[in-house]
Parts: sequence; C-alpha cells; structure tokens
Amino acid sequence: MFRKIASYTLIPALILCTISACQKVDISFNNEYSSNDFTQIVKIDSFTADISTVYIDSFPTNGKGVTLVGGYTDPYFGRVDTRTFFEIGTPSTTASSFTKAIYDSLYLTLKLNKNYYGDTTKPVHIDVSRLAELIIPPSLFGNIGSYLYNTNKFAVDPTPLGSTDITIRPNLTDSIHIRLSDVLGDTLFAKIQRGDLDVTNGTNFLNYFNGLCISSNAASSLIFGCKDSLGLKLAYHTPSLYKDSASINFPLSNTSHHFTNIAVNRTGTPIQNLGSINAPGKQNIINSKLTGNMAFTQPATGAMIKIRFPSIQSLLNMPNYVKLLRAQLIIRPVANLYNTLFYLAPSLRLSTTMVANQLGTDLSIVTGTSSSVQYGNLYTDYFGGKSTYTYDITSYLNLILNNPISSYQQDGLLLVPPSPAYETQFSRTIAGNKYNADINSRIELDVYYVAVQTK
Ligand SMILES: *[C@@H]1O[C@H](CO)[C@@H](O)[C@H](O)[C@H]1NC(C)=O
Ligand SMILES: *[C@@H]1O[C@H](CO)[C@@H](O)[C@H](O)[C@H]1NC(C)=O
Ligand SMILES: *[C@@H]1O[C@H](CO)[C@@H](O)[C@H](O)[C@H]1NC(C)=O
Ligand SMILES: *[C@@H]1O[C@H](CO)[C@@H](O)[C@H](O)[C@H]1NC(C)=O
Repeated sequence: MFRKIASYTLIPALILCTISACQKVDISFNNEYSSNDFTQIVKIDSFTADISTVYIDSFPTNGKGVTLVGGYTDPYFGRVDTRTFFEIGTPSTTASSFTKAIYDSLYLTLKLNKNYYGDTTKPVHIDVSRLAELIIPPSLFGNIGSYLYNTNKFAVDPTPLGSTDITIRPNLTDSIHIRLSDVLGDTLFAKIQRGDLDVTNGTNFLNYFNGLCISSNAASSLIFGCKDSLGLKLAYHTPSLYKDSASINFPLSNTSHHFTNIAVNRTGTPIQNLGSINAPGKQNIINSKLTGNMAFTQPATGAMIKIRFPSIQSLLNMPNYVKLLRAQLIIRPVANLYNTLFYLAPSLRLSTTMVANQLGTDLSIVTGTSSSVQYGNLYTDYFGGKSTYTYDITSYLNLILNNPISSYQQDGLLLVPPSPAYETQFSRTIAGNKYNADINSRIELDVYYVAVQTK
C-alpha cells in the first residue's frame, strides 16, 4: 500500500495518513524540502525485499587467531563439528640443563577467548591427535597457496595423544589442560636431553612432529573459542625439586598454518538441499518461499542470506514521483527460533554482491563528514520475539534506480557478520520473508519518496 504523508511544510512533525488512520512518523528529513507547497512525501511499504539462502562454498580460516573446539546440533542449521589444525615449534632450550632431570607429564594448554555457542551445561569431548602429514595449503594456479579453508583437513594418527570430557564455563574457565601421551612425552624429553636435531632445529621438528589436531565427537553440544596462544607443556623436575616443578613450552609456531575445518550436516533441516551445485540434488541458492518463508545466515556453516529488490524500478513509475528520499530495511528474526543458547548474530552487515554471490562493499551510513559500516543496530527481544535489525538503504536503492542496467554490484545484498566473526563464530539469524505466518517476523522495506502535489 502507499500512503501520502504530508506536504513538506509540516516537517518535522509529519503526520502519516491512510484512509482509516493517521499516525505520527518518527522520521526527520532534515527540512531538505521544507517551504515547498507543491511537493509531498509518500511512504510505500509494498515493495518486495525478496530473501534467499545462499551456499558459501569455502572460506579461509587460517590465521584468524581463534582455536575452535567442539560441535553441536542446531535443528535449523544442522550438526556442526569443528577440528582445529596447527603446528607447534621447538622449545628454546639447551640440552645441558636437562641431563639429570626427570620427565613428569605432557599437556596441551588452551586459553579460552570467552566466545561460545550451544549448551554450556553439558561436557564437551576433546581429542588431541598428532598429524600424520604436514599442513600444506592447497595450491592456487600451480603455486602453493597461502590460505587454508574450512573445507581442508589433514590425516591424523589413529589413536589420539589425549582425550578429555570437560564442562566449560566460558565466563569463568580461563584455560584448560589436556593430558597427553607419556610415550610421546618421554620421547620428546629424551630428544631434548641429548640435543637431538629433531627438537633443536625448527625444520627438522616440523618434519618429525607435523602438528596437532583438536577434535570432538557427536556427543558434544557446545563450540567454544580459544586463543591461538596455545602450546604443549612438558613438565619435569630435577632430583632436588618437586614433581612438575619446571616445564618446557612448545608454542604454536606458524599462525598461517593454524586453521579450523568446519563440517556441517544439514540432513533434516529446512536447508538440507543447500550445497554445491556439483553435488546431486543440491542448490546453491534457495528462495525463502521454499524453506518455510525463512532464510538463514551463519557463514561459518556455509549459509548466508541474500536480499533482492526485484520490483524497485517501478518506484520510478509511481504517480508524480520526483525522487527517492529515504529507504529503511527492517529484518526480523523469526520468533521462537532463537534463544539464549542459539543467540542472534550481534552484528550483521549488508554487503553488495553480484550473480556469483561474492562479498562486495558493505553498506555504510554517512553522518556529518564520517562514514561508517552499518551493522543493523540489533534490538533484542528474547522473550517477546520482536527483535529487529534496521538499515538505511537509501544510497543503495538510489544506485539501483540510477543504473537499471546492472553495471554495479547490484544483484542484491548479502546479510553476514563482519570478519572474523564471519569465519569463527556461530551466532545465527533466521529472517522471515513478507509471507511469514508471524507478522512480527516479516521483513519490511519502507520507502519514502517525493511526489509533486496535485489537487
Ligand atoms: C608459514 O606459512 C606460510 C604460508 O604457508 C609460509 O609461506 C611460511 O613460509 C611459513 N613460515 C614458516 C616460518 O615456516
Ligand atoms: C557470559 O557473559 C556474557 C556477557 O557478560 C553473558 O551475556 C552470558 O549470558 C554469560 N554466559 C554464561 C553462560 O554465563
Ligand atoms: C635446520 O636444518 C636444515 C637442514 O636439515 C638446515 O638447512 C637449516 O639451516 C637448519 N636450521 C637451523 C636454524 O639450524
Ligand atoms: C548426516 O546426518 C544424517 C542423519 O543424522 C546421517 O544419516 C548421515 O550419515 C550424516 N552424513 C554424514 C556425511 O555424516
């Protein structure tokens, strides 16, 4: 429907009128058109913001500074499992200081980064395994690449070096220590004691040790984040001292080779057909009408929302149309499908895109002389189900209206978190389309335009 708001002389106290009711509009147009008796502002909220879920084939996860641990099951996004791969380096030691020392224990130490997703009341199973091959990034145009992706993985030894089941209190637990194989600990210590090149030369150590993988199992219902300041800690003592009184650290070495594999199984979810078009029965974009009038964004598991405005050109044909004044997009998470366990993405940007759905430029807002990216100003209502993300898309729609032939990145907008949350966090948003059964979950596009006053 479209509504004539008022003539400009009434600014700033605009009165929005329809046949049945009038309502005050809480919008300031900066008196841009004031003292003009021949124009009026019209509001239309009937243009479609068409939403779909788009498949993300792969994205680099290396060098993000985040170690992900665990897995969980989400009825709308599927079963998610993480495995973090990394290399460790040699300790800085000299063999002579250890001749009489006695090996005690070997640990992997992780420091939590306080980010988590899922159920914190249940224990997380953790396996630490030694790699059976070197981490080598996939080649790109014939050269060894520099990126490792969510889809990459490397072989590990059949038996883990250590395992644990631990209940994490993300806001309280600072670090965790996972006890590892004494066979490996003894071997490493013996090599240190005799100054073996395997533990004194970085290249040799990498070829000897390869690296580690942290994984979980299907019983886990939480993913938590740790920092990349992790390492092996080998505890020992000298005859005159107590057990575990001293330690040697093998730190994370090449941060570029520290990455996370993220596996997702969408079987049984509304987006189970989302996937690479090379896989049988999969589609790389699914309209929200086919998935319960909802679209899904959680890039870490390969899903993001695409928003298009297929009919917006017809704005130019509106009666007495002069120019677009303002456009506001309100995205409403579908009520009851988010909660404090599966919490909403705190920030979502709108990135321009083209047919192949690459990320382009993020929409910003200009205030005074500065311009800043819009993150949606999330209003959360976990109990009433009326949460919203709100964006000013005036500039973007002007771009489309002024360039009807697609020469710009104007095939729509992708709704995604900023990086590195994009690659390393699981907070997600399910948005309703305009046909969603719940009126409080419907996307809304409000367009205000200037029209010539006719009497
Ligand atoms: C770390 O990894 C990068 C990317 O593969 C590689 O270019 C670099 O040589 C590595 N650095 C070391 C010290 O091995
Ligand atoms: C952890 O702290 C954050 C921020 O203070 C809070 O929102 C969250 O509910 C807390 N989580 C738990 C499990 O206590
Ligand atoms: C480590 O050993 C390799 C040969 O195995 C050698 O080329 C390299 O210089 C050594 N590095 C150091 C730091 O000693
Ligand atoms: C995905 O989940 C379904 C249902 O739980 C299961 O049957 C299937 O084997 C899983 N697929 C993979 C690749 O694990």
